[in-house]
Amino acid sequence: MTEAGSTIRARVPVIDRQGARSDKAAEHSEYVFRARSLTKTFGHVKAITDVSIDLKRGEVLALFGDNGAGKSTVTKMLCGVYTPDSGEIEINGTTVAMRSTRDAERHGVTVVHQDLALAPHLSVLENMFLGHEILRRGILGSFGVLSRSDMATRSNEALQRLSITLPSLSVAVQNLSGGQRQAVAVARASMWSRSGILMDEPTAALGTIQSDIVCTLIRDTANSGAGVMVISHDIPRILEIADRIVVLRHGGVALNEPVGGLQRRDIVAAMVGLSTNTAGEGEKK
Ligand SMILES: Nc1ncnc2c1ncn2[C@@H]1O[C@H](COP(=O)(O)OP(=O)(O)OP(=O)(O)O)[C@@H](O)[C@H]1O
Ligand SMILES: [Mg+2]
Repeated sequence: MTEAGSTIRARVPVIDRQGARSDKAAEHSEYVFRARSLTKTFGHVKAITDVSIDLKRGEVLALFGDNGAGKSTVTKMLCGVYTPDSGEIEINGTTVAMRSTRDAERHGVTVVHQDLALAPHLSVLENMFLGHEILRRGILGSFGVLSRSDMATRSNEALQRLSITLPSLSVAVQNLSGGQRQAVAVARASMWSRSGILMDEPTAALGTIQSDIVCTLIRDTANSGAGVMVISHDIPRILEIADRIVVLRHGGVALNEPVGGLQRRDIVAAMVGLSTNTAGEGEKK
């Protein structure tokens, strides 16, 4: 028990110099995930058709596409929010069925949703650990115990890596600015991710400086060994940190290439279905 009298049980991760967590079970594959032929329909809307997408450890994968192209739907299938109608997701060489974001976290994948999914009435500290106290029950053998001060230390480290200053860890998330909330969501994901982080528009609510900081964090996170898939409409900023680009158009893959010589116009061309020299793959569909 702790001095604060609010002991919770927590998995004690191995934290490397960047704060990235490692896990024996998740360290085998070069890939965070490999998804094949994903399809998702909502009523009459074919949101995703035959999308194959991989994320490697150590890479930043940018997922671009116009509004409604299917980016969030793909992301939600990769983190257990939606079950694909067909197709499969392979993690560490095994096809997995993820039924919740906790399932995905067990497989090493953490998500920052477009709509954040923080609990507004709870404090920053409670949000940083939200869900993980429940995850731990039942398999006590491999688990440690974290005191509230340990939790605060861990949270502060994650927030400091983002250069985020908050009024306090005990402030309710609903009383933070939009940018501060986004930063808490990103810090939370970086704290719990083992092999991959999926970020749905992490800079959408942020100012210029905070956006740059989040982009630097994304690059640093990948450099320390995790794979990061980032959805964004901020093509120039994300091009600077990405290794590979996937463009979705009308629920299908219009472009999947290393960033190499790709320019903004190539990406926009793929988004709208036009061909350029480097965006020729976009015309397959
Ligand atoms: N829960 C849902 N029910 C019905 N239709 C949905 C649902 N979620 C997404 N869609 C539809 O699926 C398509 C893809 O939506 P999605 O949210 O994946 O797009 P997106 O690329 O993330 O767009 P944006 O850039 O605007 O966030 C859209 O036509 C959308 O209206
Ligand atoms: Mg979206």
